[in-house]
Amino acid sequence: MKASSVVLIDNLPSGVPGPEHFRIDSSDVSDSVGDNGILIKILVMSADPYLRGRIKAPGDGNIAAGEVMAGFVGGKVLKSANSKWVEGDLFGAHLPFATVQLLTGDVLAKTLMWKLTDMITEDNISYSIGILGMPGATAYGGLVDVLRPKPSETIFISAASGAVGGLVGQMSKQIYDCKVIGSCGGEEKCNLVKDSFGYDAAVDYKQVANATELIAKLKEVAPDGIDMYFENVGGMHFEASMEVLRPRGRIAVCGQISEYNSATPQLCAFNPMKMIYTNQRIEGFVSTRWLSGQEGNFLVDMHKWLTEGKLKPQETFFDGIDQWPIKCLSVALHRT
Ligand SMILES: NC(=O)c1ccc[n+]([C@@H]2O[C@H](COP(=O)([O-])OP(=O)(O)OC[C@H]3O[C@@H](n4cnc5c(N)ncnc54)[C@H](OP(=O)(O)O)[C@@H]3O)[C@@H](O)[C@H]2O)c1
Repeated sequence: MKASSVVLIDNLPSGVPGPEHFRIDSSDVSDSVGDNGILIKILVMSADPYLRGRIKAPGDGNIAAGEVMAGFVGGKVLKSANSKWVEGDLFGAHLPFATVQLLTGDVLAKTLMWKLTDMITEDNISYSIGILGMPGATAYGGLVDVLRPKPSETIFISAASGAVGGLVGQMSKQIYDCKVIGSCGGEEKCNLVKDSFGYDAAVDYKQVANATELIAKLKEVAPDGIDMYFENVGGMHFEASMEVLRPRGRIAVCGQISEYNSATPQLCAFNPMKMIYTNQRIEGFVSTRWLSGQEGNFLVDMHKWLTEGKLKPQETFFDGIDQWPIKCLSVALHRT
């Protein structure tokens, strides 16, 4: 069988990735599944911000020039000799960006892959890289287990209209009945989070010059401060949130997207002394704990909330593997 794959041409220590850094290769794939293997077709490939770090330099699990890109994908099983999978099964996984793949039993045993056959159809296979995939597990783990919201608390979320932030906001409102404030770039996204996701307020960070101005904006919409901050961005967002964080406040450090295109990320101004008598907590986390099923009940809970209509997936599509280098990573990372 023929497969197309996305190959990294050059590592990029800083700057915005573009089509010149990738090419599409074609190769032959055997359909002989052997003892324990499966043959799969990849139907969707994600463009997640963390991939920016993976192409900065080779080594440390990163992707080197000439290698096939890898990341979160969704697809279906074409052929199986493995007792855990049958033909037609739908899944999400972390795998190379290649349209057809033969996974041996050994490779399969080491692959992060979750079955979605009973939850989705091919028509909404994109949920495997969204609400029922890595971004969903990130929103779930960061909110449910790291921030642990209580009803009527106030949460502030940066990159609030994104794949992760948009779910954190909806869950905070629909499941936990919190007051929800988001930070987005531009009026259109601010309106989206308020009108479609139910946020109580939105701050347009592109109209804000520094942390002092952001603190002033936050005090307008949350005069008593915030109880939780879901950190996706870094820089002034983190600094301002620390300033308005209430006693017993929590910060979940999920991402620092404002620093990803830089070779030498800026450090935040931060005073740990303030945390002592206020009993505040800052905790970083990685989604794999929930995505792998090691912790929590991500897939079951998220699918239930989705089916009940409490969460609305927000997705952006580009058709064809050749569009991935042209549109995707730069859309995720380019601040315009
Ligand atoms: N810890 C984990 O396991 C984990 C897992 C997944 C994601 N993450 C992190 O979570 C964050 C959000 O990921 P996502 O998948 O939701 O991303 P996404 O859907 O691609 O959205 C990213 C958004 O970030 C905003 N942004 C980009 N550059 C920015 C800048 N310089 N300043 C402020 N905002 C900026 C943009 O929104 P605007 O148009 O509003 O500016 C962009 O649409 C990222 O930091 C990512 O690395 C962490």
